Amino acid sequence: MTTTYSRITGLGFYVPDNVVTNDDLTQYMDTSDAWIQERTGIKQRRFFTYGKETNASMAAAASRMALERAGLAANDVDLIVYATLSPDYYFPGSAFLMQRELGLEGIAVIDIRQQCSGFVYALSIADQFIKTGMYKTALVIGSEIQSTLMDKTTEGRGVAVIFGDGAGAAVVQATTDLEHRILSTHLHADGRYAEELYLKDPGSSRPNHFITADTATAGGSSVVMNGNTVFKHAVVRFMEVINESLQANGYQPSDLALLVPHQANIRISGYVQQQMNLPDEKVFNNIQKYGNTTAASIPIALTEAFEQGRIQPGDLVCLAAFGSGFTWASALIKW
Ligand code: UT7
Repeated sequence: MTTTYSRITGLGFYVPDNVVTNDDLTQYMDTSDAWIQERTGIKQRRFFTYGKETNASMAAAASRMALERAGLAANDVDLIVYATLSPDYYFPGSAFLMQRELGLEGIAVIDIRQQCSGFVYALSIADQFIKTGMYKTALVIGSEIQSTLMDKTTEGRGVAVIFGDGAGAAVVQATTDLEHRILSTHLHADGRYAEELYLKDPGSSRPNHFITADTATAGGSSVVMNGNTVFKHAVVRFMEVINESLQANGYQPSDLALLVPHQANIRISGYVQQQMNLPDEKVFNNIQKYGNTTAASIPIALTEAFEQGRIQPGDLVCLAAFGSGFTWASALIKW
């Protein structure tokens, strides 16, 4: 009996046209281009335009690009797994809206909320469904509109300067080819740290109403992050989960052709790169252009890496993420 695996056969991304530079942010808050670049590596990010883009419409645009590159039509897809922390509606999830936009009524959709690790979790879910034979072709999405979730005043500057909007998509298909496939995925979470990086309101477990005048104005409806704690956990968990994927498949860091880390902070990627003794050409960063786009960051980075010829057939590629939850996850791929 032949074993079924899964493989990424198409990649795409979409970012809004609206470029917001670090200098642009100084109009709203006390910050500087020098501080942001030195502490995060970010030079600019994209913010969506109301009436032009939605979380789901960006994901649909990224999906169309990924499908075209895979040589498929939308109706070849039989599963959508959609990762976002910033859905268009509280419910139903944005996967439904994207499914509608692509004209794929009737197929299965799954919305997940694993924040910065969302894309890797979504890839793992698609991989499991394909390996069991239940589905053959999945669209795996990471899409975020975060610019509306942040306090863009000086009080919120420790969060607001980092995050950006955008979407990425991967087409994942069944294969029997042992040499070109997703080798393994590794997923972790630790809810003890849920409030270290979170968005409290709107939430259901409040007195009386889901949204009240108080919750709307008391600051709970902006992202809150304890940046130092997140940073310290991130550097440890990134290393652990990358090593876990390599060890599970009998590889060493030096076997990697490319590490595509979640674009959280250039200093986090730099630390991991240094600890793993990887040269610059083996670590992909594009946080400079897009900021931290949470679930979208890995598929956007992976797409750009592919477009730039940084990934070739047979290459060993590792995706790794850490973020709110806390969650951390990796995927090891033989391209
Ligand atoms: O996506 C996955 C999850 N997220 C992450 O992985 C993010 C992890 N954390 C980080 O990347 C960093 O902690 C930040 C970039 C968020 C912050 O950098 P930091 O080096 O940890 O700065 P800090 O929060 O310790 O703040 C240092 C100083 C403070 O001033 P004082 O108290 O030293 O006078 C802040 O008030 O920098 C100040 N500060 C700013 N100054 C200018 C904080 N944000 C800004 C800002 N502009 N935007």
